[in-house]
Amino acid sequence: MFHMGWFLSFNAAGWNTPWNGIAGSEWTKAEPWIDMARSLERAGFDYMMMEDGSFIPDVHRGSMQQSLASGNLPKLDPMALMGVLGQETAHLGLIATVTSTFYPPYLAARLISTLDHLTNGRTGANVVTSHNQRTAQNYGLDEQPEHDLRYEMADEWLTVVKALWNSWEPGALVMDEETGLFADHTKVHSIDFKGKWFSSRGPLNSIPSPQQSPVICQAGGSPAGRNLAAKHADTIVASVASVEQMREYRADMDVRLAHAGRKRSDCKILFVASPVLADTQREAQDRYERMLGTEEQRIERALVGLSFASGVDFAAFDLDAPVPAMSTNAAQQPLQRRLGADAATKTLREIASGPRQEINLVGTPASVAIQMGEMMDEVGGDGFLISGQLTRRLIGEITEGLAPELRKRDLIRSAYSHEHLRDNLLAF
Ligand SMILES: Cc1cc2nc3c(=O)[nH]c(=O)nc-3n(C[C@H](O)[C@H](O)[C@H](O)COP(=O)(O)O)c2cc1C
Repeated sequence: MFHMGWFLSFNAAGWNTPWNGIAGSEWTKAEPWIDMARSLERAGFDYMMMEDGSFIPDVHRGSMQQSLASGNLPKLDPMALMGVLGQETAHLGLIATVTSTFYPPYLAARLISTLDHLTNGRTGANVVTSHNQRTAQNYGLDEQPEHDLRYEMADEWLTVVKALWNSWEPGALVMDEETGLFADHTKVHSIDFKGKWFSSRGPLNSIPSPQQSPVICQAGGSPAGRNLAAKHADTIVASVASVEQMREYRADMDVRLAHAGRKRSDCKILFVASPVLADTQREAQDRYERMLGTEEQRIERALVGLSFASGVDFAAFDLDAPVPAMSTNAAQQPLQRRLGADAATKTLREIASGPRQEINLVGTPASVAIQMGEMMDEVGGDGFLISGQLTRRLIGEITEGLAPELRKRDLIRSAYSHEHLRDNLLAF
């Protein structure tokens, strides 16, 4: 069996597309997200993972125009949504994004612990380091710390956060009505952490949550990002373009996990996938091709993505020449994946109009389910993170079409065996 997650933004994406029930005027309300969470729970998903960022991209063509015109970028804070979704679901894991570069560790530790209480142990934090200069400027810095340094800081940040979560010993919470003792002060300790970047005295002034140390998710694909994940993450979300790359990712993480003294089964890697489904293979293929759009649309989409990942305006480059050599302090792995070894020999037009940089899953619910099973057999774990233009139609296709086909083949769970998110992740 493998695990399923869904990757989404708390935004209006899809607001002007057909079948956009979840977007339009509804997206700032809780209801469509509650409906979605319930659908995922019915389908047996492990978690719903909400990305986040704190800026409006303005690198592409040197302006916020594309970001604001498309409606993809304004977004609300998913941390606030977590509590609401926790009340309206009973089993689904809920993961929201937090940036280690800008959240003070004490604030993050307390917030995430509180959410773990409110969700009865189903909370996770996707710890990112943030890659855009505008984020830094919004939080009062001139620019981001250097890429690998951000991950070093994230390691220290997680060490403080975990120490705060563990600042209450087991048994510290007594709540004995007879003696009137709520908590035993001898079992609650300051952490007195003084690191290179962060300090915190502790202890945490909230009581230990159901998981005590909520689930950590990690998304960084660079060597520094992967090392951080190997040390701290319970689950990784990875974006790759082929089964071969999935296998490489899993094998690479196995080595890094072993160096960190952990087992491969301690950390589940979920690969980003956007299945395109229809009643027949032919219809699915047609639909996929319509989604790809014209060459011009594909190029513009790729340029927006490259500008976002690199912090460099790719629209300023000559489309008919190779991409100039560059290094980036933003997101390294997505840039490398898209440009790859072809950067020196192919023109930007060839690269930008090339195939989708994603695992290809196009077909009927049954044929895609079979394909997903075969992929996992080849890779050796651990599951998929569904993404795509979010509409109620897509949610229905996945949860009422694909998931039952997966379940029929015993590829995904038919029930939750545990109460807490981590335990469900570790169940197989
Ligand atoms: C599935 C997925 C989800 C991500 N979610 C976020 C996010 O919510 N916020 C964010 O700032 N970065 C997010 N990222 C970007 C990563 O944190 C990271 O910056 C990027 O993958 C590049 O990795 P690298 O910096 O290690 O090269 C995500 C990446 C992936 C693949």
